[in-house]
Amino acid sequence: MSSTAHVDPANAEQAQAWDGREGAYWAEHADRFDRAVRPYLPHFLAAADVSPADRVLDIGCGTGETTRAAARRASAGRALGVDLSAAMLDVARARAVAEGVLNAAFLQADAQVHAFPAAAFDVAVSRTGTMFFADPVAAFRNIGAALRPGGRLVQLVWQEPAGNAWFLAFTRALAAGRPMAGPPPGAPGPFSLADPARVRTVLGEAGFADVRLEPHTEQMWFGEDAADAERFTLGLHGWMLDGLDDAGRRRALDDLRATLTAHESDEGVRYTSAVWIVRAVRPVA
Ligand SMILES: C[S@@+](CC[C@H](N)C(=O)[O-])C[C@H]1O[C@@H](n2cnc3c(N)ncnc32)[C@H](O)[C@@H]1O
Repeated sequence: MSSTAHVDPANAEQAQAWDGREGAYWAEHADRFDRAVRPYLPHFLAAADVSPADRVLDIGCGTGETTRAAARRASAGRALGVDLSAAMLDVARARAVAEGVLNAAFLQADAQVHAFPAAAFDVAVSRTGTMFFADPVAAFRNIGAALRPGGRLVQLVWQEPAGNAWFLAFTRALAAGRPMAGPPPGAPGPFSLADPARVRTVLGEAGFADVRLEPHTEQMWFGEDAADAERFTLGLHGWMLDGLDDAGRRRALDDLRATLTAHESDEGVRYTSAVWIVRAVRPVA
């Protein structure tokens, strides 16, 4: 992290990952990650409903596809993307300039604790960027304080693994028969906001009202064909092979290839996925 960015010590592990190897991988494969979740973009932008004069905050903006989209809609306003990863923000900045989106700006910061100007935004959005906070109530309270009263929060978060065939298939293959304990419920990670009851509790405790969850299911893209998807998948989940002996490794890779091949289609390798689009409002006092 840059020496000026303040990170909550409890988020240090996330900062190390996102401002390190994981963020570098996402930055390098920005197009792929954007394409993987592209089917959700129209739903997400419809829910965000950005108006021309809006000031938009994009939390965990990564390489900035959603920040740029929001900034285009906020033609007389602006969008600020905030993220832990310097490498992803470099891509976000370069793309905004290349695409002539001059009302988008980017900041390396921990959204849980960054001192945003009070009530300075009309809408806060996030596409899978809000599930990694060590203290989600504190984080959403901080984000809420950055919204004007009546301002809206729109997030896209993963539903439980049961609805995300890609996650089940990859983790099952790469586990190679080992029991793989997931993180405790609610611990920072992709599925920390999968439980609607928890989402309502966290956002309620953080001071948000009118919490609404809308389910969406789409096919998620992982590569042109099984070999392409295997490279991509291993770049992301390859750490799961750690600790396997040669036979275990062979089994894991064979199983991974088998599931990827079984999911090949004319439109590439695709798996069922499921998200919530979560809307909430900062109440007018
Ligand atoms: C799964 S990626 C999603 C990136 C982007 N929103 C997209 O849709 O491509 C999660 C992002 O959240 C960011 N992130 C995680 N914890 C954060 C925090 N405390 N403050 C700001 N960003 C955070 C990560 O650096 C990462 O870029």
